[in-house]
Amino acid sequence: MSDLNNICQLTTDPNFGTKAIHVGQDPDQWTYRNVVPPVALTTTYKQKGPADTYGFEYGRSGNPSRKVLQECIASLENAKYCATFSSGLGATTAVAHLLKSGDHVLAGDDMYGGTNRYFSKVASKFGLKISLVDFTANLDFNKLILPETKLVWMESPTNPCLRVIDIEKIATAIHNIRKDITVLVDNTFMTPYFQKPLTLGADLVLYSCSKYLNGHSDVIMGAVVTQRLDLYEGLAFNQNSLGIMSSPFDCFLVNRGLKTLHVRMMEHQKNGFAIARFLEKHPLVEKTLHPGLPSHPQHEVAIRQCSGFSGMVSFYIKGGIKEATKFLQTIKVFCLAESLGGYESLADHPALMTHASVPADERATLGITDNLIRLSVGLESEQDLIADLDQALNASVK
Ligand SMILES: Cc1ncc(COP(=O)(O)O)c(C=O)c1O
Repeated sequence: MSDLNNICQLTTDPNFGTKAIHVGQDPDQWTYRNVVPPVALTTTYKQKGPADTYGFEYGRSGNPSRKVLQECIASLENAKYCATFSSGLGATTAVAHLLKSGDHVLAGDDMYGGTNRYFSKVASKFGLKISLVDFTANLDFNKLILPETKLVWMESPTNPCLRVIDIEKIATAIHNIRKDITVLVDNTFMTPYFQKPLTLGADLVLYSCSKYLNGHSDVIMGAVVTQRLDLYEGLAFNQNSLGIMSSPFDCFLVNRGLKTLHVRMMEHQKNGFAIARFLEKHPLVEKTLHPGLPSHPQHEVAIRQCSGFSGMVSFYIKGGIKEATKFLQTIKVFCLAESLGGYESLADHPALMTHASVPADERATLGITDNLIRLSVGLESEQDLIADLDQALNASVK
């Protein structure tokens, strides 16, 4: 752990925990001075006179539980605005609906499979054009940016191969070509605790709150954060017009989850790093992917732009589908399941599970092979997690 503390040059925001606990939560906003914000289940609100409201009119356009959460998430990003949605993909949909038919999106080739499916199979039907690139390669943006390009979509680290994109370099290059192109970073894997894309030049930051922000694997939700009023107004309009806002109870749960985000992330980081180092030395592991390891190809970028690492670790087990399947059927503390970012440790087979919707040829190019396994390292004891992986790796060759 001690060398982990020295690895990242950036320090984490010292006020993060205070903001996560207090911003948006002022008891004086409620009649009975609730210390814990209530779940406001009402769909409609009494008005003083016609169209003269006390702040809310109808539950789709606004809700007190949602307002509390949005203010809190925005503060963690040092941002002004946040809009929450019924899922991370709902947030993606709301962003895509800021565009119009004929517009072009330049996106990372190693993004979440569902985002890839949304753009290539759904948004394309409505006239959005998309091209995929490897943002870690040396790219000539003068050729890649078309007159119709309106949105650049990055995810860093990428999912599931954990490639790290130099966000500042890409955002600057794009904005030098055209200021009106919106640069978005999906920051789900890092959370605002370890990475703040707005300070690196992004215009929008997207979260699947279903992961670390909630942290308890019991809510599906998404959020988009920005400093720009014009973008926020478009997103708030889409929340209401598309009807994909987050529910009051889900807002209550994610708001509760945020109270321990900084504490959980430190423990995810510790366990994730310990497991990455264990796997890297294991004779039955071909290759381990974790941005904190000096062997990671973008390690230098990671330690420059992040103030720490989450619990995400991917690795190639020696062998193929047979060994990977045996390993995944033998784990006991880790659970074979999709998703990530909860307190419990999960293991995923991207080629057959989370990234099955990515076409096979694209998967092969990206390195999503049959022996790739993605771990979301949770908050159990480090030694129990390592012992579990060890026994499952040894069983994979029997
Ligand atoms: C990086 C990333 N972005 C977006 C999403 C979509 O979020 P949701 O499942 O909340 O719709 C996911 C889901 O796994 C994800 O991993």
